[in-house]
Amino acid sequence: MGLSTEQLVEQAKEHDAKTMATEELREKDSSNSESNGPENGLRACIISLGSKSSKMTAEALSEFFEHVDMLQLKEMEVVLGKDAGVFFSGKPLEYYDCVFIKGSFRYAHLLRSITSMLEGKVPYLPLPASSFTIVHNKLLTHLALQQQEIPMPKTYVSPNTETAKELLKRVNYPIVMKFPEGTQGKGVMFADSISSASSLLDALGALNQPFIIQEYVETGGTDLRVIVIGDRAIAGMERKATTDEKRANIHAGGSGQIVELSRETKTLAIKTARALNAEVCGVDILEGPLGPVVIEANISPGLQGVTAASGINVAREIAKHMYQQTVSKLQIKTDKHKQQVVKDMKNQENNKSEIITNLQFKGERIILPKLVTEMTEFSELENYVIKSKKGKLEIVEFKM
Ligand SMILES: Nc1ncnc2c1ncn2[C@@H]1O[C@H](COP(=O)(O)OP(=O)(O)O)[C@@H](O)[C@H]1O
Ligand SMILES: [Mg+2]
Repeated sequence: MGLSTEQLVEQAKEHDAKTMATEELREKDSSNSESNGPENGLRACIISLGSKSSKMTAEALSEFFEHVDMLQLKEMEVVLGKDAGVFFSGKPLEYYDCVFIKGSFRYAHLLRSITSMLEGKVPYLPLPASSFTIVHNKLLTHLALQQQEIPMPKTYVSPNTETAKELLKRVNYPIVMKFPEGTQGKGVMFADSISSASSLLDALGALNQPFIIQEYVETGGTDLRVIVIGDRAIAGMERKATTDEKRANIHAGGSGQIVELSRETKTLAIKTARALNAEVCGVDILEGPLGPVVIEANISPGLQGVTAASGINVAREIAKHMYQQTVSKLQIKTDKHKQQVVKDMKNQENNKSEIITNLQFKGERIILPKLVTEMTEFSELENYVIKSKKGKLEIVEFKM
């Protein structure tokens, strides 16, 4: 049975009440009654527009981080050049171990600027700067997904309305026209014939707005919203459009319900999040007759609907992941320091050719310590033979 928006909101409230009850219990259990969270000295903040979902996440973060701040995006400022920095309410942003930055497409450039300025300074940022301009734009998202050959509905980009009119003669109907930066179903239009499509096109031309044209994928008015955190598809819901609607968005009156995600759908959602380098993301998927296709991703996904429909405490899963990643990023920093110590040892003993270290990974790629580059004097300009088998790696210069 589908749930109406009201029911979803009610369920989310119930969920909140439950979370709060658990919070109270945890506080009671805690030996230090003054403390509201762990005493690990870790500091996290959420920079957002202050939505209910952001509040849920902030509350969940305080279970893992000692100090959690919720900062209003509209009070942020970025200065470049002289006295460069990120400012909140006119003051330089304090130090945090983890910063989760969220907001709508209207703030894409500010979000990207803040993230870009914090990269390298904050140990853990779940989203790279580029994701704010890419993911908030459906066309740029589709281009990034195309590079990874991720299935999507056939999508057309035309230089202008005249060429798009010609295109309308060749496509199969119905079709979908979208504003690349629309959200909540508001920028999505359907046309079931060339005549309705060309009048829509005239309106788009008059508005002077960029748009994409997409094949319509028949799903009976349903879509899937899958939440990916790190490398896992942790929750999902099926959304069904109301009878007089094709858009399944909850904001367009759609209802969310529990769904068993297939392995194929989960893998597709994870691949999408990876292609966009987003560690927290909602992926919208249509399960069409030819298999699942991705229509968009959302780096600031609403949590109430999916929490209520799936019964999974998504905010807590996000907070837990952020905590684990922050700890591991801080660990890498310490390891880097240890590597420096190894390097100093090498300088002293000069001919040492063995280093004992752990391996750093970026995604699935191994990053070797800088010391290895120095010892081997390997260069980017040369070619090498990499011999690898389980438990052993050998890299030697390639000689003709
Ligand atoms: N190509 C398509 N075929 C069929 N339905 C679509 C297609 N694209 C979008 N929709 C419907 O419209 C809804 C909104 O589209 P989406 O691209 O996710 O934009 P928004 O950012 O507004 O959510 C989807 O959830 C889906 O129900
Ligand atoms: Mg959507």
